[in-house]
Amino acid sequence: MSIRLKLLFSFTGMLVISLLMFALTASLFTIASTGDISSFRDFYKVHYQLNPLTEEEESIFLELKYLAKNEPDQLQNQKLLQDYDFKLKTVRAGLYVRRESTQIFESNTFHQPELEAALPPYDLNNSQIRNTFNIGERFYAYAKFDFTYSDGAKGSVFVIRERSPFAELARKLLPMLSILLIGLLVIANILLYRWITRSVVKPLNLLRNSAEQIQEGNLQFALELQSKDEIGQLNKAFENMRQRLQASVDLRLRDEENRKELLSNISHDLRTPITNIKGYIEGIRDGVADTPEKMQKYVDIIYTKAVDLDKLVDELFLYSKLDLKQVPFTWEHVDVSKFLDDCIDELRYDLEKKQIAIDYKNHACHDATVLADREKLKRTVLNIIGNAVKYMDKPQKQIHVLLHTDSDRVTVEIRDNGMGIPPEAVPHIFERFYRAERSRNSSTGGSGLGLSIARQIIEGHGGTIWAKSEQGVGTSLFFTLKRMQNQGGNDPDDANPDH
Ligand SMILES: Nc1ncnc2c1ncn2[C@@H]1O[C@H](COP(=O)(O)OP(=O)(O)OP(=O)(O)O)[C@@H](O)[C@H]1O
Ligand SMILES: [Mg+2]
Repeated sequence: MSIRLKLLFSFTGMLVISLLMFALTASLFTIASTGDISSFRDFYKVHYQLNPLTEEEESIFLELKYLAKNEPDQLQNQKLLQDYDFKLKTVRAGLYVRRESTQIFESNTFHQPELEAALPPYDLNNSQIRNTFNIGERFYAYAKFDFTYSDGAKGSVFVIRERSPFAELARKLLPMLSILLIGLLVIANILLYRWITRSVVKPLNLLRNSAEQIQEGNLQFALELQSKDEIGQLNKAFENMRQRLQASVDLRLRDEENRKELLSNISHDLRTPITNIKGYIEGIRDGVADTPEKMQKYVDIIYTKAVDLDKLVDELFLYSKLDLKQVPFTWEHVDVSKFLDDCIDELRYDLEKKQIAIDYKNHACHDATVLADREKLKRTVLNIIGNAVKYMDKPQKQIHVLLHTDSDRVTVEIRDNGMGIPPEAVPHIFERFYRAERSRNSSTGGSGLGLSIARQIIEGHGGTIWAKSEQGVGTSLFFTLKRMQNQGGNDPDDANPDH
């Protein structure tokens, strides 16, 4: 059974049950208060039958009753009756006294010929002394007492009070009110049913459609989120799930794309040195290297190409391991200032040979100790300086190394005055196999992996790496590392950034 049908049944059920309960309660209440099932129809009268008069009226009535019992003839005394009538008028009731069929006294409030006819006959047993009656549209409640005058004539004394016509009106309108009540209940029921179906069934249908779309592999849609209730939250969770699925599918596709690109790059990069080596070996085999000098030259070239190949395979291996986060980092406290000093000392001799001046300026105003893998950090610095050397095109060759610190970071800048990088290439130089102006770089023989490895290493340290360059003027490579705040007290393993 669909939710829609269930809701329809439950709402109708509730409607029927509430109407039944209403009728049952009303009848039980009547029975409980009157003890009589047949008086159910006169339900509205019960209250006034039981309490026709107010407390003050009741006390006057009791006085009159007392008189009727003990001095019945007094109830012919007009003066006395007028006094009582006056008292009753102050509480908005009236007095009526009759003797046999003659009227002894009637409050001028009534003065209605029908009144006499509406009054009950004599009943000296006084079995029902309180009741109600109607005259035309007007509704009255009374208390009466029947007695006998000293001469044996029957007499009655009535304290009568007109009741709110509203009660009468209510009685008249009761069938209409009931119909109205039922009508209202039905309309409320229909409106509630519509409201619930709109807010529950519709979004659920939407959700089902979306699930079906996902099942068919379509993730390119957005679930509209309108309500904030539980269904809205469900839709939101579903939408989040869709977005995540979409993201993971995109990632998978991108990875797939990357893998294909990586494979084609690797095969291309491996093919060049292998083709070269093959060419020179064929040369030797065909006897082209016919002198010992030529032979030496060929062998040297083959050796260099083999070394390049080895380096490339090595870098590829490192890159893919870093990419898969499979390279363990050996964390230790490294004072970057001293570390840079050591790196530069190590390089100075080689650089001088190439007539490249290198200087190091330490602008650190804080302690520059970081938690780092010294070997990997060194590889990064050498890589960046290696690029500065490789892409140097000025006669006055200059490399500056600068160290800055702020409260939580250490920043290293390696600036050269080389050929610079075209602006459109700057954002890509950290991508694997990316080489700006490939043709220009072909002579330098780079694989385009150096900076992508550097980025993996720096990000592995929880740092960032970026470049600024002006073509023809020079390039600055920056990287930051998290500064160790509480030096000495920390166990390196506790502050391990990622690994
Ligand atoms: N200091 C620099 N000056 C000019 N261009 C640079 C500099 N550093 C990097 N580049 C450009 O960025 C590209 C990517 O650098 P990366 O170090 O990743 O690769 P590579 O140097 O070509 O090869 P590898 O470092 O793997 O031998 C380089 O090919 C070069 O075009
Ligand atoms: Mg490089």
